[in-house]
Amino acid sequence: MACRLHADLIRAHGLHVNVGGDLGVGKTALVRAWLRGLDVTGPIRSPTFAVLEPYVVSHAAPTAGRHGLEPHKDSSLDFYHFDFYRFADPREFGIGFRDQFRPGSICAIEWAEKAGDRLPRADLTIALEFDGEGRRARFDASSPAGRACLESALREFDANAVA
Ligand SMILES: Nc1ncnc2c1ncn2[C@@H]1O[C@H](COP(=O)(O)OP(=O)(O)OP(=O)(O)O)[C@@H](O)[C@H]1O
Ligand SMILES: [Mg+2]
Repeated sequence: MACRLHADLIRAHGLHVNVGGDLGVGKTALVRAWLRGLDVTGPIRSPTFAVLEPYVVSHAAPTAGRHGLEPHKDSSLDFYHFDFYRFADPREFGIGFRDQFRPGSICAIEWAEKAGDRLPRADLTIALEFDGEGRRARFDASSPAGRACLESALREFDANAVA
């Protein structure tokens, strides 16, 4: 999704995406697909038990360097995949999980509602629903970074649909 094109906005403001929906609807699968789209090749685990799984993603294609393919300088962004399902109290959010919400990082959150109003406002909200054998997704952007991300994701989707 969009972060390849909007690293400047993410560096300045960060990007916070809530991925909502019922148990088992596909929230982790969606974030996993996003990370694969950002060329993360290692294991991508559900953060249900760990609460947080961190990644480093590159927003620029690597180029040939002295040690083979190397990322461009300053091309990496921190990507944090959270799942707050196991929080018994929203106050748990304050314990070690606030610092990741900062300029330069992307935060994708499952079960954001478990952190109550302690969680910063999302730039983009994705609401997943069961729809027969498939799934339906509703996207709501509420900041310039969220809108830019959503617009370029839709452009990519249209381009792939035509191809
Ligand atoms: N778009 C989809 N179409 C069909 N099946 C899907 C889709 N997305 C996910 N699934 C399947 O649904 C199951 C649950 O997916 P996933 O673990 O991503 O859900 P989740 O919303 O993260 O669950 P939880 O609420 O427990 O965190 C998996 O078996 C997955 O393969
Ligand atoms: Mg999940």
